[in-house]
Amino acid sequence: MSNEDRATNAEAMLSVYNINVWYGAIHAIKSVSFDVREGEIVALIGANGAGKSTTLKTVSGLLRSQTGSITFLGDDIMHTPADKLVGRGLAQVPEGRRVFLEMSVEENLEMGAYTQPKTSVAPGIARVYDAFPRLKERRRQVAGTLSGGEQQMLAMGRALMSNPKLLMLDEPSMGLAPILIEQIFQIIEDLHRSGSTILLVEQNAQMALSIATRAYVMETGKVTLTGTGAELLVNDDVRRAYLGG
Ligand SMILES: Nc1ncnc2c1ncn2[C@@H]1O[C@H](COP(=O)(O)OP(=O)(O)OP(=O)(O)O)[C@@H](O)[C@H]1O
Ligand SMILES: [Mg+2]
Repeated sequence: MSNEDRATNAEAMLSVYNINVWYGAIHAIKSVSFDVREGEIVALIGANGAGKSTTLKTVSGLLRSQTGSITFLGDDIMHTPADKLVGRGLAQVPEGRRVFLEMSVEENLEMGAYTQPKTSVAPGIARVYDAFPRLKERRRQVAGTLSGGEQQMLAMGRALMSNPKLLMLDEPSMGLAPILIEQIFQIIEDLHRSGSTILLVEQNAQMALSIATRAYVMETGKVTLTGTGAELLVNDDVRRAYLGG
């Protein structure tokens, strides 16, 4: 790492440097480095199995790197338990949007506020309903009967209840119809405009790059390319591999 990189990293909200993650004998993440600065949407794109989810899980403390460093808001979080990180402002919406299916929409949102003082729950719910009017209409409905898109909105709303400084989204568009994908990306842009910093993992490279401040391309466990969203959208290699020509 050059001195210039160090200076850049010191300013980053999240700085990931040279992480390596194994599942048993499988070397899933190979010397990956990236950072996220305050106010950015940073996208990680790449094919199935590239290591995107593994990277997010390592940042959120569910998996551990054997090497390198991860700092969040200036603190080393390499050994911080996942539940503590939520309280510090790092929220993750996992792949496959795991909401509590037996609970109502509003109960799910309340669960998301477990790190927050009781007095902030009602204002938090009001803010989530502002961002997702659809959830407000369905506040008493059990989550298991929501559509896939509505469950994604609920998973995002629940993460927002922890009042995160950095929101990490793992494939929010997965399994959704095109119209719902548009809606979800619109909401991500709205959150960004109102000040949220976002780390977005996506296979939908077109959509992700079109809203990303910057992006990193992952291939078989490595970062192979980085640039602004606009740069990568017109990059020939990216177009061939991820944008259908
Ligand atoms: N629990 C696990 N045990 C063993 N190998 C795993 C495990 N989870 C993931 N892997 C492997 O690690 C690699 C990276 O997986 P990961 O889920 O991070 O990919 P991804 O980029 O998120 O893919 P996708 O777009 O399909 O979600 C893959 O080769 C995968 O098979
Ligand atoms: Mg994944």
